[in-house]
Amino acid sequence: MTLAYKNLIGGVWKDSASGKLRESINPANTSDVVGTVPDSTTADVDEAVAAAREAYRGWRLVPAPKRGEILYRAAELLLKHKDELGRLATREMGKILPEGLGDVQEAIDMAYFMAGEGRRLEGQTVPSELVGKDCKSVREPIGVFALITPWNFPTAIPSWKLLPAIISGNCVVFKPSSDTPVCATKLVEILIRAGVPKGVVNMVHGSGQVVGSYLARHPDIDGISFTGSSAVGEELVKSCAGLDKEISCEMGGKNPIIVMDDARLDLAIEGALWGGFGTTGQRCTAASRVIVHAKVYDDFVCGLARAAADLRVGDGMKDDTEMGPLIHKAQMEKVLEYIKIGKEQGGRLVTGGRQLTEGDYAKGFFVEPTVFADVTQDMRIAREEIFGPVVSVIKARNLTEAVAMANDSDYGLSAAIFSQDVNNCATAERDLQTGIVYINAPTIGAEIQLPFGGIKKTGTGHKEAGGRGGALDMFLHWKVVYRDFSGRLQKAQIEG
Ligand code: UN1
Repeated sequence: MTLAYKNLIGGVWKDSASGKLRESINPANTSDVVGTVPDSTTADVDEAVAAAREAYRGWRLVPAPKRGEILYRAAELLLKHKDELGRLATREMGKILPEGLGDVQEAIDMAYFMAGEGRRLEGQTVPSELVGKDCKSVREPIGVFALITPWNFPTAIPSWKLLPAIISGNCVVFKPSSDTPVCATKLVEILIRAGVPKGVVNMVHGSGQVVGSYLARHPDIDGISFTGSSAVGEELVKSCAGLDKEISCEMGGKNPIIVMDDARLDLAIEGALWGGFGTTGQRCTAASRVIVHAKVYDDFVCGLARAAADLRVGDGMKDDTEMGPLIHKAQMEKVLEYIKIGKEQGGRLVTGGRQLTEGDYAKGFFVEPTVFADVTQDMRIAREEIFGPVVSVIKARNLTEAVAMANDSDYGLSAAIFSQDVNNCATAERDLQTGIVYINAPTIGAEIQLPFGGIKKTGTGHKEAGGRGGALDMFLHWKVVYRDFSGRLQKAQIEG
């Protein structure tokens, strides 16, 4: 029997006013329906936003350390259910089981970290120019947030938004991806079990076009945190212009790894393999470009192609699988289209390139790990985000040229360099134009205690994850308080 999950509004699990349902499908086996969720309407959104507004009146006043205790309990529950939730992530999203468990681990890390932040929402106290007066800055919640999340990290990314939002004293209406709604629901169930009061977290399932876009523009929404495609994010920013909402969008990437002639080639190949094909390339941090020094180029291409060809593709739930399926048919078709474009524009296909259709593969959305060599900067596969298992290898003459190529991109999320030379590493660290730089590690694998986000078309400036300088700056306002206890009127800048 298929399990039917519901929306959560004002502490009540309920169906949509539409009465309609959407199915969530296992991308490795489309006959496996993971669950159904409501196909919600704008009326459901109105109700959820009203519930959040109502709850905000009390939640903003709950001391942050108390809010932190709830998150600590959520962390413990997530840890307790890690195995079950990790399996669910694999079943619903397709990533291999170690990665499904990693997805949940990222949420656990975030929950412990944000629980601690409840005791650290520090501001400043500074001396006043005047006697009998003091000055401080304090942090305050913003109000009600719309949280819109993608399917590629079905537990982790919702946790990146939900946990900092609520530790900060905001209330939320959460619209998870319609491709991974069950993982999202399980996370919300845990928050409720941990003691999040009714109305603080509301969840409305449904499509981005109906639910997401209406929710983001809702007049009673104070802020929006969105992670997803550049196309949707840019549209969101435009349509919210002038609506006085806080907005944070985390969007695409075209993340390069630079491999220098002094790199440990074995490590660089292993890194490119993990960065390019981990999560089937469906990470915004995926290493989709590898820029390799001419001296080691042939050896690198040969080594990467061999390693990619050896990857075992299949159902992520099986022990020996190293790369799972793509999330759905449309994504698979997009990837196959880019492979076609890569060939047409002169990329040299060195391995992969085909959809896998035989035997069990026919049940899901599988594409071979694909490597193109001799890619040049003008080719679309070097410039556009594919979000699939396709890596483009580009030749560079020296570090200066490699960094210039890395920076010649609309995106600026993550970049990496493999080199054993400290000067090369430091130069790349200084000159790469991205929000995240890795040295002797691939472009994926950010840790939650530091800010996450990019520049250029990747993001709108606010960071996710991390504390101060990161997610908390998205979910809190600064308020400055001047207190005069001199008993007389003192005029700043005029006397004293
Ligand atoms: C994403 O790809 O959308 O740094 C997030 C990483 C992960 C998060 C990726 N911790 O690759």
